[in-house]
Amino acid sequence: MGEIKGFRNKEVMITGGLGFIGSNLAMALVRLGARVTIIDNMLPRQGGNLFNVKGIAGKVKVNFSDVRNELSMNHLVKGKDYIFHLAGQVNHVDSMRNPVQDLDINCKGTLVLLEALRRHNMDARVIFAGTRGEYGSSVTLPVDEDHPTNPKGIYAVTNLTAEKMVLVYDDVYKIKGVCLRITNTFGPRHQMMHDEYGVFNWFIRKAMDDEVIPVFGDGRILRDFLYVEDLVGCMLMTAMTGVSYGKVFNVGTGVPVSFYDLAKTIVRITGTGKVKYAEFTQERKEVEPGDYYADISRIKKIVKWEPTTSLDEGIRKTVAFYKKYKKEYWQ
Ligand SMILES: NC(=O)c1ccc[n+]([C@@H]2O[C@H](COP(=O)([O-])OP(=O)(O)OC[C@H]3O[C@@H](n4cnc5c(N)ncnc54)[C@H](O)[C@@H]3O)[C@@H](O)[C@H]2O)c1
Repeated sequence: MGEIKGFRNKEVMITGGLGFIGSNLAMALVRLGARVTIIDNMLPRQGGNLFNVKGIAGKVKVNFSDVRNELSMNHLVKGKDYIFHLAGQVNHVDSMRNPVQDLDINCKGTLVLLEALRRHNMDARVIFAGTRGEYGSSVTLPVDEDHPTNPKGIYAVTNLTAEKMVLVYDDVYKIKGVCLRITNTFGPRHQMMHDEYGVFNWFIRKAMDDEVIPVFGDGRILRDFLYVEDLVGCMLMTAMTGVSYGKVFNVGTGVPVSFYDLAKTIVRITGTGKVKYAEFTQERKEVEPGDYYADISRIKKIVKWEPTTSLDEGIRKTVAFYKKYKKEYWQ
Protein backbone atom coordinates (compact mmCIF):
# COMPACT_ATOMS: atom_id res chain seq x y z
CA MET A 1 0.00 0.00 0.00
CA GLY A 2 1.41 3.39 -0.96
CA GLU A 3 1.29 6.36 1.37
CA ILE A 4 -2.32 7.56 1.66
CA LYS A 5 -2.42 11.16 2.77
CA GLY A 6 -4.98 12.92 4.91
CA PHE A 7 -5.43 10.75 8.01
CA ARG A 8 -2.78 12.39 10.21
CA ASN A 9 -4.42 13.56 13.48
CA LYS A 10 -7.88 12.63 12.20
CA GLU A 11 -10.30 11.04 14.67
CA VAL A 12 -11.27 7.67 13.26
CA MET A 13 -13.71 5.14 14.71
CA ILE A 14 -13.75 1.51 13.60
CA THR A 15 -16.75 -0.57 14.63
CA GLY A 16 -15.84 -4.26 14.73
CA GLY A 17 -12.22 -3.13 14.98
CA LEU A 18 -10.96 -6.16 16.92
CA GLY A 19 -11.95 -8.44 14.05
CA PHE A 20 -10.13 -9.43 10.89
CA ILE A 21 -10.60 -6.48 8.55
CA GLY A 22 -11.02 -3.90 11.32
CA SER A 23 -7.74 -4.72 13.04
CA ASN A 24 -5.76 -4.66 9.78
CA LEU A 25 -7.38 -1.30 9.06
CA ALA A 26 -6.55 -0.01 12.55
CA MET A 27 -2.88 -0.90 12.11
CA ALA A 28 -2.73 0.95 8.80
CA LEU A 29 -4.49 4.01 10.24
CA VAL A 30 -2.14 4.17 13.24
CA ARG A 31 0.78 4.03 10.79
CA LEU A 32 -0.76 6.97 8.93
CA GLY A 33 -1.01 9.02 12.13
CA ALA A 34 -4.76 8.79 12.79
CA ARG A 35 -6.26 8.73 16.29
CA VAL A 36 -8.14 5.46 16.28
CA THR A 37 -11.02 4.34 18.50
CA ILE A 38 -12.15 0.73 18.19
CA ILE A 39 -15.66 -0.36 19.16
CA ASP A 40 -16.19 -4.12 19.51
CA ASN A 41 -18.44 -6.30 21.64
CA MET A 42 -16.35 -9.48 21.10
CA LEU A 43 -19.32 -11.41 19.73
CA PRO A 44 -18.68 -15.12 20.45
CA ARG A 45 -17.45 -17.33 17.55
CA GLN A 46 -16.54 -14.31 15.46
CA GLY A 47 -13.19 -12.74 14.66
CA GLY A 48 -12.76 -10.40 17.65
CA ASN A 49 -9.31 -11.09 19.16
CA LEU A 50 -7.28 -8.71 21.30
CA PHE A 51 -4.09 -10.21 19.92
CA ASN A 52 -5.05 -8.69 16.56
CA VAL A 53 -4.19 -5.24 17.91
CA LYS A 54 -1.31 -6.18 20.20
CA GLY A 55 1.17 -4.50 17.86
CA ILE A 56 -0.61 -1.16 18.31
CA ALA A 57 -1.53 -1.51 22.00
CA GLY A 58 -1.36 1.90 23.66
CA LYS A 59 -1.82 3.61 20.30
CA VAL A 60 -5.54 2.84 19.92
CA LYS A 61 -8.47 3.23 22.27
CA VAL A 62 -10.55 0.08 22.60
CA ASN A 63 -14.14 0.37 23.77
CA PHE A 64 -16.01 -2.89 24.37
CA SER A 65 -19.38 -1.49 23.38
CA ASP A 66 -22.13 -2.86 21.25
CA VAL A 67 -23.17 -0.83 18.20
CA ARG A 68 -26.78 -1.42 19.24
CA ASN A 69 -26.22 0.51 22.47
CA GLU A 70 -27.68 3.99 21.84
CA LEU A 71 -26.12 5.69 24.86
CA SER A 72 -22.65 4.44 23.98
CA MET A 73 -22.95 5.31 20.32
CA ASN A 74 -24.34 8.79 21.02
CA HIS A 75 -21.25 9.49 23.08
CA LEU A 76 -18.68 7.72 20.90
CA VAL A 77 -19.51 9.34 17.55
CA LYS A 78 -18.82 12.84 18.85
CA GLY A 79 -15.80 14.48 17.24
CA LYS A 80 -15.07 11.63 14.83
CA ASP A 81 -14.02 12.51 11.28
CA TYR A 82 -14.35 9.04 9.76
CA ILE A 83 -16.34 6.00 10.82
CA PHE A 84 -15.52 2.64 9.28
CA HIS A 85 -18.56 0.51 10.06
CA LEU A 86 -17.45 -3.11 10.14
CA ALA A 87 -19.26 -4.47 13.20
CA GLY A 88 -21.55 -7.19 12.06
CA GLN A 89 -22.85 -10.67 12.47
CA VAL A 90 -20.73 -12.23 9.70
CA ASN A 91 -21.34 -15.95 10.15
CA HIS A 92 -23.47 -17.11 7.18
CA VAL A 93 -24.48 -20.34 8.89
CA ASP A 94 -25.42 -18.59 12.16
CA SER A 95 -27.43 -16.04 10.21
CA MET A 96 -29.78 -18.83 9.14
CA ARG A 97 -29.81 -20.54 12.58
CA ASN A 98 -30.42 -17.28 14.42
CA PRO A 99 -31.77 -14.76 11.88
CA VAL A 100 -33.23 -12.41 14.48
CA GLN A 101 -29.79 -11.79 15.99
CA ASP A 102 -28.47 -11.13 12.48
CA LEU A 103 -31.22 -8.56 11.87
CA ASP A 104 -30.62 -6.99 15.26
CA ILE A 105 -26.87 -6.52 14.84
CA ASN A 106 -26.60 -5.75 11.15
CA CYS A 107 -29.70 -3.58 10.71
CA LYS A 108 -30.56 -2.16 14.12
CA GLY A 109 -26.85 -1.69 14.88
CA THR A 110 -26.38 0.31 11.68
CA LEU A 111 -29.47 2.40 12.37
CA VAL A 112 -28.38 3.18 15.94
CA LEU A 113 -25.03 4.36 14.57
CA LEU A 114 -26.67 6.50 11.89
CA GLU A 115 -29.12 8.03 14.38
CA ALA A 116 -26.23 8.85 16.72
CA LEU A 117 -24.59 10.66 13.82
CA ARG A 118 -27.79 12.50 12.91
CA ARG A 119 -28.11 13.81 16.46
CA HIS A 120 -24.48 14.36 17.41
CA ASN A 121 -22.14 14.54 14.43
CA MET A 122 -23.54 15.12 10.95
CA ASP A 123 -20.06 15.90 9.57
CA ALA A 124 -18.58 12.43 10.02
CA ARG A 125 -18.04 10.29 6.95
CA VAL A 126 -19.20 6.70 6.99
CA ILE A 127 -17.57 3.84 5.12
CA PHE A 128 -19.77 0.76 5.22
CA ALA A 129 -18.41 -2.76 4.69
CA GLY A 130 -21.09 -4.66 2.80
CA THR A 131 -20.77 -7.91 0.92
CA ARG A 132 -20.81 -9.31 -2.61
CA GLY A 133 -23.46 -11.65 -1.16
CA GLU A 134 -25.96 -8.81 -1.67
CA TYR A 135 -26.14 -9.84 -5.35
CA GLY A 136 -27.09 -13.47 -4.71
CA SER A 137 -26.77 -15.79 -7.70
CA SER A 138 -25.05 -14.13 -10.64
CA VAL A 139 -27.15 -13.53 -13.72
CA THR A 140 -24.21 -12.10 -15.69
CA LEU A 141 -20.46 -12.25 -15.07
CA PRO A 142 -18.46 -10.33 -14.11
CA VAL A 143 -20.94 -8.73 -11.72
CA ASP A 144 -21.17 -4.95 -11.87
CA GLU A 145 -22.95 -2.64 -9.42
CA ASP A 146 -26.14 -2.55 -11.54
CA HIS A 147 -26.55 -6.32 -11.34
CA PRO A 148 -29.85 -7.38 -9.62
CA THR A 149 -29.68 -7.92 -5.87
CA ASN A 150 -31.33 -11.19 -4.85
CA PRO A 151 -29.55 -12.23 -1.65
CA LYS A 152 -29.42 -15.97 -0.93
CA GLY A 153 -29.32 -15.84 2.87
CA ILE A 154 -30.33 -13.62 5.78
CA TYR A 155 -26.74 -12.36 6.26
CA ALA A 156 -26.80 -10.93 2.74
CA VAL A 157 -30.33 -9.52 3.18
CA THR A 158 -29.35 -7.66 6.36
CA ASN A 159 -26.19 -6.33 4.70
CA LEU A 160 -28.17 -5.05 1.74
CA THR A 161 -30.66 -3.39 4.09
CA ALA A 162 -27.88 -1.78 6.15
CA GLU A 163 -26.31 -0.50 2.93
CA LYS A 164 -29.60 1.11 1.90
CA MET A 165 -29.86 2.77 5.33
CA VAL A 166 -26.43 4.35 4.89
CA LEU A 167 -27.48 5.63 1.47
CA VAL A 168 -30.78 7.03 2.81
CA TYR A 169 -28.94 8.99 5.52
CA ASP A 170 -26.54 10.28 2.88
CA ASP A 171 -29.43 11.34 0.65
CA VAL A 172 -31.87 12.74 3.23
CA TYR A 173 -29.61 14.06 5.99
CA LYS A 174 -26.42 14.60 3.94
CA ILE A 175 -24.41 12.42 6.31
CA LYS A 176 -21.79 11.31 3.85
CA GLY A 177 -21.75 7.55 3.40
CA VAL A 178 -20.14 5.18 0.91
CA CYS A 179 -20.92 1.47 0.61
CA LEU A 180 -18.53 -1.27 -0.41
CA ARG A 181 -19.67 -4.67 -1.65
CA ILE A 182 -16.65 -6.67 -0.64
CA THR A 183 -15.68 -10.02 -2.11
CA ASN A 184 -14.24 -13.00 -0.15
CA THR A 185 -11.23 -11.60 1.68
CA PHE A 186 -8.34 -13.52 3.24
CA GLY A 187 -5.16 -12.84 5.14
CA PRO A 188 -3.61 -12.40 8.59
CA ARG A 189 -5.81 -11.83 11.70
CA HIS A 190 -8.85 -13.79 10.51
CA GLN A 191 -10.36 -16.25 13.00
CA MET A 192 -9.09 -19.82 12.41
CA MET A 193 -11.29 -21.70 14.88
CA HIS A 194 -14.08 -22.94 12.61
CA ASP A 195 -15.21 -23.06 8.99
CA GLU A 196 -18.61 -21.33 9.25
CA TYR A 197 -17.28 -18.28 7.46
CA GLY A 198 -13.96 -17.31 5.89
CA VAL A 199 -13.46 -20.47 3.83
CA PHE A 200 -10.14 -19.31 2.33
CA ASN A 201 -8.47 -18.95 5.72
CA TRP A 202 -9.97 -22.27 6.79
CA PHE A 203 -8.32 -23.97 3.77
CA ILE A 204 -5.01 -22.47 4.91
CA ARG A 205 -5.44 -23.92 8.39
CA LYS A 206 -6.27 -27.35 6.98
CA ALA A 207 -3.16 -27.28 4.78
CA MET A 208 -0.93 -26.05 7.60
CA ASP A 209 -2.23 -28.86 9.83
CA ASP A 210 -1.51 -31.35 6.99
CA GLU A 211 -5.15 -32.34 6.85
CA VAL A 212 -7.71 -32.79 4.08
CA ILE A 213 -9.10 -29.61 2.49
CA PRO A 214 -12.72 -30.43 1.69
CA VAL A 215 -13.80 -28.87 -1.61
CA PHE A 216 -17.57 -28.93 -1.95
CA GLY A 217 -19.33 -30.31 -5.04
CA ASP A 218 -17.13 -30.50 -8.16
CA GLY A 219 -14.90 -27.66 -6.90
CA ARG A 220 -15.56 -25.60 -10.02
CA ILE A 221 -17.49 -22.77 -8.38
CA LEU A 222 -15.67 -19.52 -9.12
CA ARG A 223 -14.86 -16.81 -6.61
CA ASP A 224 -12.94 -13.61 -6.47
CA PHE A 225 -10.40 -13.68 -3.61
CA LEU A 226 -8.94 -10.44 -2.25
CA TYR A 227 -5.94 -10.04 0.06
CA VAL A 228 -6.75 -8.01 3.17
CA GLU A 229 -3.97 -5.43 2.70
CA ASP A 230 -5.45 -4.55 -0.69
CA LEU A 231 -8.88 -4.18 0.90
CA VAL A 232 -7.48 -1.90 3.61
CA GLY A 233 -5.85 0.29 0.96
CA CYS A 234 -9.16 0.39 -0.88
CA MET A 235 -11.12 1.45 2.21
CA LEU A 236 -8.67 4.24 3.01
CA MET A 237 -8.57 5.55 -0.55
CA THR A 238 -12.36 5.42 -0.83
CA ALA A 239 -12.71 7.38 2.43
CA MET A 240 -10.39 10.07 1.06
CA THR A 241 -12.18 10.38 -2.29
CA GLY A 242 -14.85 13.06 -1.89
CA VAL A 243 -16.85 11.99 -4.95
CA SER A 244 -17.14 8.39 -3.74
CA TYR A 245 -19.78 9.32 -1.13
CA GLY A 246 -23.38 8.46 -1.90
CA LYS A 247 -22.20 5.59 -4.09
CA VAL A 248 -21.87 1.80 -4.02
CA PHE A 249 -18.68 0.09 -5.18
CA ASN A 250 -17.65 -3.48 -5.84
CA VAL A 251 -14.38 -4.39 -4.19
CA GLY A 252 -12.55 -7.43 -5.50
CA THR A 253 -9.84 -8.44 -7.93
CA GLY A 254 -12.03 -9.25 -10.92
CA VAL A 255 -10.02 -12.47 -11.30
CA PRO A 256 -12.04 -15.72 -11.07
CA VAL A 257 -10.47 -18.69 -9.27
CA SER A 258 -12.20 -22.04 -8.66
CA PHE A 259 -12.27 -23.52 -5.16
CA TYR A 260 -10.39 -26.55 -6.49
CA ASP A 261 -7.59 -24.41 -7.94
CA LEU A 262 -7.48 -22.36 -4.77
CA ALA A 263 -7.08 -25.47 -2.59
CA LYS A 264 -4.36 -26.83 -4.92
CA THR A 265 -2.49 -23.51 -4.83
CA ILE A 266 -2.61 -23.44 -1.02
CA VAL A 267 -1.25 -27.01 -0.84
CA ARG A 268 1.53 -26.13 -3.29
CA ILE A 269 2.58 -23.08 -1.27
CA THR A 270 2.35 -24.60 2.22
CA GLY A 271 3.84 -27.92 1.06
CA THR A 272 1.35 -29.84 3.25
CA GLY A 273 -2.32 -30.91 3.19
CA LYS A 274 -4.34 -32.60 0.46
CA VAL A 275 -7.42 -31.74 -1.54
CA LYS A 276 -10.53 -33.94 -1.54
CA TYR A 277 -14.01 -33.46 -2.91
CA ALA A 278 -16.84 -33.45 -0.36
CA GLU A 279 -20.63 -33.26 -0.46
CA PHE A 280 -22.15 -29.85 0.27
CA THR A 281 -23.67 -29.75 3.74
CA GLN A 282 -27.34 -28.77 3.68
CA GLU A 283 -26.56 -25.52 5.55
CA ARG A 284 -23.93 -24.60 2.95
CA LYS A 285 -26.09 -25.47 0.00
CA GLU A 286 -28.87 -23.19 1.20
CA VAL A 287 -26.71 -20.06 1.05
CA GLU A 288 -24.34 -20.92 -1.83
CA PRO A 289 -24.89 -18.41 -4.67
CA GLY A 290 -22.62 -20.09 -7.27
CA ASP A 291 -20.05 -18.33 -9.44
CA TYR A 292 -19.04 -14.79 -8.59
CA TYR A 293 -16.35 -12.41 -9.71
CA ALA A 294 -16.55 -8.66 -9.65
CA ASP A 295 -16.41 -6.01 -12.31
CA ILE A 296 -14.25 -3.43 -10.52
CA SER A 297 -14.16 -0.81 -13.26
CA ARG A 298 -16.24 1.71 -11.26
CA ILE A 299 -13.89 1.82 -8.26
CA LYS A 300 -10.84 1.83 -10.53
CA LYS A 301 -12.21 4.85 -12.36
CA ILE A 302 -13.55 6.89 -9.44
CA VAL A 303 -11.29 5.97 -6.52
CA LYS A 304 -8.26 5.05 -8.68
CA TRP A 305 -7.80 1.90 -6.64
CA GLU A 306 -6.87 -1.54 -7.82
CA PRO A 307 -5.44 -4.58 -6.01
CA THR A 308 -1.73 -5.29 -6.28
CA THR A 309 -1.19 -8.57 -4.38
CA SER A 310 -1.12 -11.79 -6.40
CA LEU A 311 -2.90 -14.86 -5.04
CA ASP A 312 0.44 -16.64 -4.42
CA GLU A 313 1.93 -13.67 -2.60
CA GLY A 314 -1.17 -13.23 -0.43
CA ILE A 315 -1.12 -16.92 0.54
CA ARG A 316 2.61 -16.80 1.32
CA LYS A 317 2.18 -13.78 3.60
CA THR A 318 -0.84 -15.34 5.32
CA VAL A 319 0.91 -18.65 5.97
CA ALA A 320 3.99 -16.85 7.31
CA PHE A 321 1.80 -14.88 9.74
CA TYR A 322 -0.01 -17.94 11.10
CA LYS A 323 3.22 -19.95 11.38
CA LYS A 324 4.51 -17.26 13.68
CA TYR A 325 1.35 -16.68 15.71
CA LYS A 326 -0.44 -20.04 15.46
CA LYS A 327 -1.18 -20.35 19.17
CA GLU A 328 -3.14 -17.07 19.17
CA TYR A 329 -5.57 -18.34 16.51
CA TRP A 330 -5.77 -22.14 16.61
CA GLN A 331 -7.43 -22.73 19.99
N1 LIG B 1 -14.15 -11.07 5.51
C1 LIG B 1 -14.81 -11.01 4.37
O1 LIG B 1 -14.50 -11.77 3.43
C2 LIG B 1 -15.92 -10.00 4.19
C3 LIG B 1 -16.51 -9.92 2.93
C4 LIG B 1 -17.54 -9.01 2.76
C5 LIG B 1 -17.95 -8.20 3.79
N2 LIG B 1 -17.37 -8.31 5.02
C6 LIG B 1 -17.88 -7.45 6.09
O2 LIG B 1 -16.80 -6.81 6.75
C7 LIG B 1 -17.12 -6.63 8.14
C8 LIG B 1 -16.00 -7.17 8.99
O3 LIG B 1 -15.86 -8.56 8.75
P1 LIG B 1 -14.63 -9.43 9.26
O4 LIG B 1 -14.32 -10.41 8.20
O5 LIG B 1 -13.56 -8.54 9.77
O6 LIG B 1 -15.32 -10.23 10.46
P2 LIG B 1 -14.82 -10.49 11.97
O7 LIG B 1 -15.75 -11.48 12.58
O8 LIG B 1 -13.39 -10.80 12.00
O9 LIG B 1 -15.06 -9.05 12.62
C9 LIG B 1 -16.33 -8.56 12.96
C10 LIG B 1 -16.21 -7.91 14.33
O10 LIG B 1 -17.44 -7.27 14.64
C11 LIG B 1 -17.66 -7.43 16.04
N3 LIG B 1 -19.09 -7.26 16.32
C12 LIG B 1 -20.10 -8.08 15.97
N4 LIG B 1 -21.28 -7.59 16.43
C13 LIG B 1 -20.99 -6.44 17.07
C14 LIG B 1 -21.79 -5.48 17.76
N5 LIG B 1 -23.11 -5.64 17.87
N6 LIG B 1 -21.18 -4.39 18.30
C15 LIG B 1 -19.83 -4.23 18.20
N7 LIG B 1 -19.03 -5.13 17.57
C16 LIG B 1 -19.60 -6.21 16.99
C17 LIG B 1 -17.15 -8.83 16.34
O11 LIG B 1 -16.87 -9.02 17.72
C18 LIG B 1 -15.91 -8.90 15.45
O12 LIG B 1 -14.74 -8.53 16.14
C19 LIG B 1 -18.47 -7.32 8.37
O13 LIG B 1 -19.49 -6.35 8.38
C20 LIG B 1 -18.60 -8.24 7.17
O14 LIG B 1 -19.95 -8.45 6.84
C21 LIG B 1 -16.36 -9.20 5.23
